[in-house]
Amino acid sequence: MSEQTLLTAWQSARDRLKQAGVETPAFDARLMLEAGAGVSRMDILTDPHRALNAQQAQAVEKLVARREAREPAAYILGKKAFWKYELTVTPSVLTPRPETELLVEAALEQLRPDAPLKVLDLGVGSGAIAIALLLERRKISMVGVDKSAEALAIARFNAVALHVADRLELRESDWGADLPDAEFDLVVSNPPYVRHGAIDLLAPEIARHEPRLALDGGRDGLEAYRALLPQVRRLLKQGGGFLVEIGEGQAEAVWAHATAAGLSPEGVRNDLSGRARVVFGRNLGRAPG
Ligand SMILES: C[S@@+](CC[C@H](N)C(=O)[O-])C[C@H]1O[C@@H](n2cnc3c(N)ncnc32)[C@H](O)[C@@H]1O
Repeated sequence: MSEQTLLTAWQSARDRLKQAGVETPAFDARLMLEAGAGVSRMDILTDPHRALNAQQAQAVEKLVARREAREPAAYILGKKAFWKYELTVTPSVLTPRPETELLVEAALEQLRPDAPLKVLDLGVGSGAIAIALLLERRKISMVGVDKSAEALAIARFNAVALHVADRLELRESDWGADLPDAEFDLVVSNPPYVRHGAIDLLAPEIARHEPRLALDGGRDGLEAYRALLPQVRRLLKQGGGFLVEIGEGQAEAVWAHATAAGLSPEGVRNDLSGRARVVFGRNLGRAPG
């Protein structure tokens, strides 16, 4: 291999990733170059003709080949930015999505800064939502549940790294079925909501690499809501609030399932392109059905 510089290594990685169908080839090429060669963005910008030694070139090649095979950048790098911090991620957890920050934002509006409230996150995954809320609201305590023991281990690691582990109890549980009644002031959840049959049509990064348990919403994408909303009704105190993330076009159905579970949905939150992404409401003590 002829000698590579930061610039030529970046260009060649970018071209390969583009060819492989990666959505953001220039950006991802830079991430692989930075991680593989152990350089910063500033190094690439200010010293583009710096030569890579053989070890650096080999390390960059390995990372680019993985990304070329459509492994998600977050799994290759082992980290993902979410809200105002960085989380460790592995293939055992869903890579936290920017749209989930909308749920965090909406939840924060319901959590007064000094109130010592108790909050539940159903399907805690990497800990993204729970940890963001704990970092923003120093008086709350949270329970995070997940069916995946591997995901819980990552959530625990992140909670310790970000110094909120003392306020986050993590439990292996099926949508909180084993938790006591009327315990929580707020319940949040970003459940799996992709239609089973649509998963294989998603980008290879998702379809081939992310955990099915974090994606699969069953036949119509709504199975997790059917299972968890009755639990939300049972677990919330009277007057307590809930917020659930939803997939595109699911607002009406999730609203109806929440109502059937005895909850009182109150509104939806739209993303910047006007799509409803969160359904929120309250437990006003109505009977289910
Ligand atoms: C879409 S991911 C969300 C992860 C994380 N909260 C986030 O927003 O990035 C859904 C999570 O629900 C978990 N899950 C799936 N079925 C579950 C069940 N029956 N009980 C509890 N958790 C479940 C998955 O393991 C996964 O971590």
